[in-house]
Amino acid sequence: IGDSGPRTADVLVVGSGIAGCAAALAAAREDEEVLLVTKASEPEDASSDWAQGGIATTRGDPESLKEDIIEASANTADPEAVDVLVENAAPAVRDVLIDTLEIDFDTLGADYDFAREAAHSADRILHVDASTGQHVLRPFLSYLSEVDNVTILEDTTALELIRHEGRVHGALLDTEPDGKPVFAGATILATGGIGDCFEDSTNPAGSTGDGIAMAFLAGATVEDMEFVQFHPTAAAVDDPFLLSEAVRGEGGVLRNENGERFMPDYHPDAELAPRDVVARAVQDEIDATGSVSLDVSPLDDPFDEVFPNLASTCEERGVDWREGIPVAPCEHFLCGGIAVDDRGRASLDRLYAVGECARTGVHGANRLASTSLLEGLVWGLRAGEDATGHDPAAIEIQRLRNSDPALPERFAAEKFHRLRSITSAELGLRRTATGIDSARGVLRRLKGEVDAYTRTRTSRSLYELRNATVVAILIANAAADSDESVGCHYLEDGSREQTPTAEAGPN
Ligand code: SIN
Repeated sequence: IGDSGPRTADVLVVGSGIAGCAAALAAAREDEEVLLVTKASEPEDASSDWAQGGIATTRGDPESLKEDIIEASANTADPEAVDVLVENAAPAVRDVLIDTLEIDFDTLGADYDFAREAAHSADRILHVDASTGQHVLRPFLSYLSEVDNVTILEDTTALELIRHEGRVHGALLDTEPDGKPVFAGATILATGGIGDCFEDSTNPAGSTGDGIAMAFLAGATVEDMEFVQFHPTAAAVDDPFLLSEAVRGEGGVLRNENGERFMPDYHPDAELAPRDVVARAVQDEIDATGSVSLDVSPLDDPFDEVFPNLASTCEERGVDWREGIPVAPCEHFLCGGIAVDDRGRASLDRLYAVGECARTGVHGANRLASTSLLEGLVWGLRAGEDATGHDPAAIEIQRLRNSDPALPERFAAEKFHRLRSITSAELGLRRTATGIDSARGVLRRLKGEVDAYTRTRTSRSLYELRNATVVAILIANAAADSDESVGCHYLEDGSREQTPTAEAGPN
């Protein structure tokens, strides 16, 4: 890739989580030459690898999964998109996860050990312990690495999309300081989440919303950016780690500082209420009493037998789970993103988006537990199939500026700090109209500084900072434009006078 000539691919996939892998697999099955580039140096650098709970299945009753998804979304999910998900769930899981990758999901007797998670009306989650993501992603990547027409480039990121006359022709990669062009027949973004836009997140480092920012800056439509989901139970330690919903599905209960179980006062489904409801209740009780813990003593079997990996993570991190695990809500998932149709097609020709960076409509204002790997798998396969049949075209491009290649790490670290402080304070679990407006002001000024700096310097960290800033502004603008308090966009004052954003872009 370091050679000077342009590189080409039939299908360029950016990102190596389950959605990117599924897209690469589907395109490769159609005999396309696939180039999969990933920022990750190791599989565990992708969010999918960190997924704990598992993969929701229909268990022969797609209608009930559909109802649960829509109910958890506060009736905002797009029913047609949910139909696509539930109708394709069983064939996709069987084809890829069972028949192709032969993943050993946990079993109970002769059947799978289907788990229960919050807001599901049935036991239907396929899982491997509470470390399902890594048991799916690692075999997936290793399978793809053996496929002749798939090339995987690790530790490589896309900096900008190449756009010409409304069509996307590939991307500039960071393997050369001024951007190495890859011309592609179709480009599929699968760049994952936005956790690095907040102080605490359950995502791996580097989750800076790159695909969303690149697509937006190239002119693609993004939607539902205000719906940033916070997981209710991250361990409340430095560098929080996730405690799967499955723990509550197995009987774990939440207690406040006074030892009182409080969730029944908030929702009839108590600990198994939709995620946004539980997250806000946890935060309310932390504010009122000082702390909340996850009591694992009600589980039928000992915690370390049911969730050995979570028990050992607790022990490694100095948390005695026998005493109750201190928890707090933590940024977890973006329900919105690049607007796509039922095949992952974005609003620009030959551009696709799949996985967390995409807004399919499945999640609406609040995602149901264990639907993200499934959505990534289903939309990844559909996009990969649809993206085929286009020859790459080399077009004239403008390379990036690179007048000072010194890595501006300190600048990026400082600005990231400012970015995360304002998003966490004003664009988190609970928002106010005043806070959103103040975040917009701070973020716009920050964007001005970042733009001035990126005029003369190029580095991955600067692009990540630019991307995170664009994403944060998109969240703030969407929050400012949305006067309804719903799902993950919760306004403390209930609603706000609608004050439409003055400009379309994140300036
Ligand atoms: C979890 O295991 O609680 C996370 C699953 C998800 O985000 O859907």
